[in-house]
Amino acid sequence: MNLAELHKVALAMVAPGKGILAADESTGTIKKRFEAIGVESTADTRRDYRELLFRSADAMRHHISGVILYDETIRQSAKDGTPLVKIIEQTGALPGIKVDKGTKPLPFSPGEVITEGLDGLRDRLIEYRNHGAKFAKWRAVIDIGAGIPSHDCVNANAQALARYAALSVEEGIVPIVEPEVLMDGDHDAERCYLVTEWLLKSVYEQLYYARVPLEGTVLKPNMVVSGKKCATRASVEEVAEKTLRVLKACVPVAVPGIAFLSGGQSDEEATAHLDAINRIGGVPWKLTFSYGRALQAAPQKAWAGRPENVGRAQMAFTHRARMNGLAALGQWKAELEKKAA
Ligand code: 13P
Repeated sequence: MNLAELHKVALAMVAPGKGILAADESTGTIKKRFEAIGVESTADTRRDYRELLFRSADAMRHHISGVILYDETIRQSAKDGTPLVKIIEQTGALPGIKVDKGTKPLPFSPGEVITEGLDGLRDRLIEYRNHGAKFAKWRAVIDIGAGIPSHDCVNANAQALARYAALSVEEGIVPIVEPEVLMDGDHDAERCYLVTEWLLKSVYEQLYYARVPLEGTVLKPNMVVSGKKCATRASVEEVAEKTLRVLKACVPVAVPGIAFLSGGQSDEEATAHLDAINRIGGVPWKLTFSYGRALQAAPQKAWAGRPENVGRAQMAFTHRARMNGLAALGQWKAELEKKAA
């Protein structure tokens, strides 16, 4: 492990005006996304779709620092035989890999899940490193509801995240530490704040016990938002203020950067929130995006599985990447969305 090298990679992942494209949907998740646009999910359609994203030269060169891949994708080649990893590298972006194996019900904790994938992880990290992965991702999922999250759920997930992060750093791969508080419930933003605070404090406690050097890590948290079914909506300013407040209370200064997940926010909401957060600023970390849905919903819709739509889909992706790149600098304006439309 070379910590100076890991720190350099972590800083590159959160370089000014750039963020991460989360294209690591599992086979089950991408099938759902494709169903929504009437596309059959096969190894070839998944390849074609992801290839069009990675070949969006403008977006990739100027606004995307890294791409999180799924196990299938890191092994795939483009139609012309070029490995997809190579296409990403040629744009200057870093290839990364999702290494968790998804969630399973947590025993004796109805409604709660634990992320699996620690068994054999060291060997998989070595294999992914040989495929070119410079960073990894592990997502812990915490739901808010009546009586949940439980201490067991927060603790078990924080411990798993720390074990994963320690193994990644040891193998020379920057871990994206992703503790996600879901926005599915009817809770308000204050409850989201309290659960996010509890989770982040637990995660950094476990990272400390696992001796993880934070300089070689990137945090991927949720923003502090109202639950989707909550009657009241926190404003953009309130989301930005609460998100910054919880990060300041919980995240050590040694962490080089924070790249938010979008978590089911609309494209424009995710951009507006990131922009408002960066306009307040005054924090020691770079604050950027690591969006899946908020970067891909528009290109997926524009593509709809048709080769003749590839150019339009690339334009849609480039637009979202540019908007989020501006938001990462606190320079986004709502008018820029209208102009593009
Ligand atoms: P969303 O931005 O769609 O939440 O996806 C990010 C991600 O990587 C989830 O693990």
